[in-house]
Amino acid sequence: MRAVAKAHANIALVKYWGKRNESLILPMNGSISMTLRELSVVTAVEFHPRWQTDQLIINGSDASRTDLERMTRFLNIVRDLAQTDWRAHVVSRGNVPLASGLASSSSAYAALATASTEALRLHLDRTHLSILARQGSGSAARSIYGGFVEWTKGERDDGTDSYARLLCSPDSWDLSMVIAIVGYGAKKISSREGMARVVATSVFYRDWLNTVDDDLDNARRAILQRDFTTLGQITEASTYKMHATTMGASPPFCYWQAPTLEVIHQVERLRDHGIECYASVDAGPHVGILCKDVNAHRICEAVSGILGIAHVLITRPGPETKIEESFNEA
Ligand code: PMV
Repeated sequence: MRAVAKAHANIALVKYWGKRNESLILPMNGSISMTLRELSVVTAVEFHPRWQTDQLIINGSDASRTDLERMTRFLNIVRDLAQTDWRAHVVSRGNVPLASGLASSSSAYAALATASTEALRLHLDRTHLSILARQGSGSAARSIYGGFVEWTKGERDDGTDSYARLLCSPDSWDLSMVIAIVGYGAKKISSREGMARVVATSVFYRDWLNTVDDDLDNARRAILQRDFTTLGQITEASTYKMHATTMGASPPFCYWQAPTLEVIHQVERLRDHGIECYASVDAGPHVGILCKDVNAHRICEAVSGILGIAHVLITRPGPETKIEESFNEA
């Protein structure tokens, strides 16, 4: 039994930062993101009664043992739902830099959730797909949808009310995200490890939680009213606040590298010159720059020359996950 699905990565505008339940991946706070058209993953999943173990191939190579074990833990949830013990062979190909702070796991687990449940004929609706994808990687809960998406943290201990929903479809707002990529190497502290340390030790974490609901309310309203300025201001503030919590952790740490700050300064200069744009940084050194479509190329040029920037790409709001007929390149 086989199925193929395509999913797009997302970047948070109001960040998810901290878990209240590590195994179910339940967040301490809600979050809002934009799904990205140009960054995607296609995953083929096949289950077979004769296979003894799961197998995972990512971009043509055998996955690491850690990635394979994580996938098996996730597929065990899917197997429980389908009441089967069949093992799976999974082949995944994408264009998202892996484990670098560019939300590669958001598209990976959204695609895996969609393809594996389709292969086992579970026919989950998007709410249940989001709940499932969340258990692979928190941010994957949001990649089930396209455009602008909110993941509600939920209150229940079993996570049945912690899932994403659509706020604004991809074609109904002419925004772009210019992404300045600092380097392709894996980051030293994963988002999982970083947020756990912050929740346990950061002197600023309580302040993060105290302000995030207002940020969510204001960002949601801004998206519904297509108020770019307010959304951009909240996006940038959410980035600064999230990274402040890492600096207040014990031991402290920082995801930014020198080019990260150079790009942020360039964003400020562009704004001073009337090109409205706002910076966003996740758990890595890269910078997403939220802007109107018309300014994307100008911004791309303005950050391309910065020393240490390996690559700059322009992304538009992207679509929801979907089943593919065949395994084509993402
Ligand atoms: O879902 P994870 O474990 O990749 O965590 C994502 C954390 C941030 O990217 C920093 C924020 C977010 O909401 O995506």
